[in-house]
Amino acid sequence: MPLHIDGDFTVPGDKSLTHRALMLAAAARGESRLRGLLPGEDCRRTAEILGALGVEVPELPLSGAEIVLSSDGIDAWSAPADVLDCGNSGTTARLMMGLLAGRPFCATLTGDASLRSRPMRRITEPLALMGVRSTELEEPDRLPLEICGGELRGIDYRSPKSSAQIKSAVLLAGVSGRVAVSVHEPVRSRDHSERMLRSLGIEITEGPRDGGWLVAMSPSDGELPPLDMEVPGDPSSAAFLIALGSLAESGEMRIRGIGLNPTRTGFFGALRRMGGQLRTEGVRASGGESIGDLIVQPAELHGISVGGPEVPSMIDEIPVLACLAARASGETRVTGADELRAKESDRISTIVRNLRALGADAGELPDGLIVRGSDRPLRGLVRAHHDHRIAMAFGVLAALPENEITIDTPEIVEVSFPGFWETLGHASGSGTGIG
Ligand code: S3P
Repeated sequence: MPLHIDGDFTVPGDKSLTHRALMLAAAARGESRLRGLLPGEDCRRTAEILGALGVEVPELPLSGAEIVLSSDGIDAWSAPADVLDCGNSGTTARLMMGLLAGRPFCATLTGDASLRSRPMRRITEPLALMGVRSTELEEPDRLPLEICGGELRGIDYRSPKSSAQIKSAVLLAGVSGRVAVSVHEPVRSRDHSERMLRSLGIEITEGPRDGGWLVAMSPSDGELPPLDMEVPGDPSSAAFLIALGSLAESGEMRIRGIGLNPTRTGFFGALRRMGGQLRTEGVRASGGESIGDLIVQPAELHGISVGGPEVPSMIDEIPVLACLAARASGETRVTGADELRAKESDRISTIVRNLRALGADAGELPDGLIVRGSDRPLRGLVRAHHDHRIAMAFGVLAALPENEITIDTPEIVEVSFPGFWETLGHASGSGTGIG
């Protein structure tokens, strides 16, 4: 039966914003009120780690209902009794290192096999320039590592990569150590930390510099005030439903309350270039971020080239873009995306190997990939390699009636999208989903 989509959907809260909201609420002094938080596995790790530092974080509700997080401020954080386990979450590990930088104690961070294979010197190197001592406990450039914070110096850091995790770690170290910091990156990466810090009264200036983007934060002696914040739906999670809607035969889908921060919406523009029918409605401001509904209709998609400055604004959506490309006409080429090799899996290799295993035509480039679309049915087993976005991107292909695809570890979606399979099943009319 051809795929018909119809109806209203929501997706869980934004992962990047949830990590930052929890961390900044724990660093602030007073009662923060947070709504719409993502109760995914990654954000639970952040909450648990804040708990180990002495801040009581309420259970993250599945409904997104408000939580009240009460903290005595970052100066009251205490040395953890145990190793801090960041699970699968790079954002937890890297941003927490920034916040720990100015605390006068040592902490050891580790993670699961995926996180322990990801580079960490990109964070420990700038922090070392600020005065933080860190020790790699097993492999070079990898977790587990011990970091010992204390008195910090300010830094003007020129980052070789466009990475919000690097930029945010340095900004949060500046908050933790109450020193001035600036970060220059080749292309502007997502700016959630800047927006949230500004809303808490921290002075941040930013703008183009030397062909890249410079963010400069003034030191603040005082304490952070508590937050009152509503986290919008995650555009990276919405991307999977948008992809399904685009590949359907008929109907229309509305996805409500999605974050539309322009540093996150590169995928929407790329999809439109492919011929996708996507529009926004009801756009409004909420807590320093813009938010709105997305309306998607089925479309005839064709291949495009993606590269250059647009890549950071869609870095997490390239797996689903590649899966769309496998159903589009012609060739899609992604370049300038070597950072994909440092995600939860080496996404260039995982995407290409899985597409090929299903019978699609795909090839690796050193910094990207090529996919040639067709309408042949795709069949086989997808190996997700501890990578939630790989499982979900291929989940979209699995939901198409002509394909027969199994995902080896469907439960990995819990990292960022609890209920993904139920939502996908509901959207594709296949009952409770594939997982
Ligand atoms: C994130 C930044 C991105 C992204 C990750 C979340 C963040 O990583 O891939 O899922 O919340 O700052 P990089 O900053 O390393 O590109």
